[in-house]
Order: sequence, then C-alpha cells, then structure tokens
Amino acid sequence: MMALKEKIEALKRERNAVILAHYYTEGDVQDVADFVGDSLALSQKAATTDADVILFAGVHFMGETAKILSPQKKVLMPDMAAGCSLADSCRAEDFAAFIAAHPGHTVISYVNTTAEVKALTDIVCTSSNAVQIVESLPKDEPIIFGPDRNLGNYIKNITGRENMLIWDGACHVHEEFSLEKILELKKEYPQAKVLTHPECKRPIILVSDYVGSTAGLLKYATEDTSTDTYIVVTEPGVLHQMKKAAPGKTFIPAPPMDSTCGCNNCSFMKLVTLRKMADALERMEPEIVIPEVVRAKAEKSIRRMLDISKKLGLI
Ligand code: 13P
Ligand code: SF4
Repeated sequence: MMALKEKIEALKRERNAVILAHYYTEGDVQDVADFVGDSLALSQKAATTDADVILFAGVHFMGETAKILSPQKKVLMPDMAAGCSLADSCRAEDFAAFIAAHPGHTVISYVNTTAEVKALTDIVCTSSNAVQIVESLPKDEPIIFGPDRNLGNYIKNITGRENMLIWDGACHVHEEFSLEKILELKKEYPQAKVLTHPECKRPIILVSDYVGSTAGLLKYATEDTSTDTYIVVTEPGVLHQMKKAAPGKTFIPAPPMDSTCGCNNCSFMKLVTLRKMADALERMEPEIVIPEVVRAKAEKSIRRMLDISKKLGLI
C-alpha cells in the first residue's frame, strides 16, 4: 500500500497531475487525493485547476464534467466501468423525446447524467444547489427536471412548484435504504440525528433532521453541537471524512433493506483502487473523450449552474 501511494505521488509530480476524489470512494483513495469533495465542489476544482492532467477518482459522469469544463486537459479515469445507475436511468434519446413532447419547459438536469443529456439541458444542478437553481427561475416557469425522481420531488415539495415534470429515474444505492431499519436505529440511539442525502425516498426524508449533499452532510456532522451521534443515510464512504473531522462523534451508516447484501455501497465508486490509479497515471489512460459538439453544448448548461451559484454566493 505504501509503495503504491509513493508511486502515485511520484507519477503525479511527473505528469503535473491533480487527483480529485469523491466522498464515496474508499478511504485510502480519498487519502491520496489533492481534493475530496461533492459533485459541485469537484466540478469547480476541475474548472480552475492549472494541472495538465486530472485523475478523477469517482464515476464516469464526474470525469465527463471535468473534461467538459477543462477540455484542454487530459482527464483520466482509474476504471471506465465506474458508471452510475442514476445516469443510466436517463438515456439521451429518451430524454430528448420527453423534452420534445413537452415544449416550452426549462430543462434542469442533475449532474448525475451523461454529457449527451447535459447537452440537452438548460441548467445543470447538483444536490448542493438544486433548490436554489429552481428558485432562481420565475415561480410559474414550466420546468422539466431529470433524472432523479426523489431529488425532483424533494425540490418540488420545498419550492411548491406546480409546473414541474419529473423524470422517473433513481439511484440503486439510495433506493435501498429502509425506513423501518432507520426507525429501529432511532429507538436504539434516541439521541442520534438522521442526516440524509436527497436522493433518498420521501418517507426517509420526512424522518430526517438534515437533508443535503455529501458536503452538506459532512459540514452539518462536523459543526453540529446538539448531539454526538448521527445516523448517516447515504453511501457510507462519506463516513471516512466525518470520522476524520469529528473523531469524538459516533457515525452510524444506515443499513439497506437487506442487511446482508452490502448494497448501500456504490459498487461503481468502489471500482476505484490505488492500483488502478497508479496504472492510469503510468499509462496515461483510460482517458475521457467527448465529441466537441456535445461538449460545447453541455458546457453551457454547467456554466449556467456555476454562474447562478456564484451570483447566489453558494460557491
Ligand atoms: P453529491 O453531489 O452530494 O456529492 O452526490 C453525488 C452522488 O452521486 C450522490 O449519489
Ligand atoms: Fe450514481 Fe448512486 Fe453511485 Fe451516486 S451512489 S454515483 S447516484 S450510483
């Protein structure tokens, strides 16, 4: 492990590379990264880094977002098979047909989408800014929101938007959490607060003390002084940074419906290993490649998100 870490460090210097990692990757992967963050923070880093190479320790749509924002840079993925079930639930041709069937709508897409879907989109959002992006539009603006139905319904409930059509997609990890098991944990740890990602289903959102992006959950868990115990309802990779930031607190990963399946883990994120990272830096592949016509359109919708977020002081 030590030798691999040293190899990655040496290759990183040699290639003038930066390593960006998402909170859901394994702890040892996060520990070699230059920056660990949620989707919004990672996209900002990708847009502003002066490295020549970005090694993206995350899933495919995250690497694509980096490439869309930094087309002159080489974006390497440790494993091209690291996809996303939510992005897979919205194929570009189906989404295009849906948009065509509902003309006159502003299209807002969650960042967990392919470059092709982003190219069909007016404004991208992440779980950090989805509510504010929707609220930045006039109250009666007709909106298409895709692809996550749970996040879409969460926003619709908060903003009271009537004119919002929601695509019927979901993430296999966040769909698996069990309300019953969370309530059992609450009985066992009555002092615990429930921290939940908005990709979870509504009944779970309703019993939560805080709902937010991975970075939001981490910030809340670190800064909150009302208790020292938290039930964390998202992919458990995020506990790595929570434990580092607040070593005196107790973080309990919420279990999936079937406690034996391990399916609260994102199998795609867990494909990223130190070995694959070292190999990617050594071989300078596999690399994200996006046709320029798609990239340029997708960039507009991501830049709109970044501009609104900046204007609102969110970044
Ligand atoms: P965040 O933007 O909150 O990091 O979420 C990304 C993700 O894939 C959640 O499943
Ligand atoms: Fe995609 Fe779900 Fe994995 Fe997030 S946790 S990357 S939404 S499959």
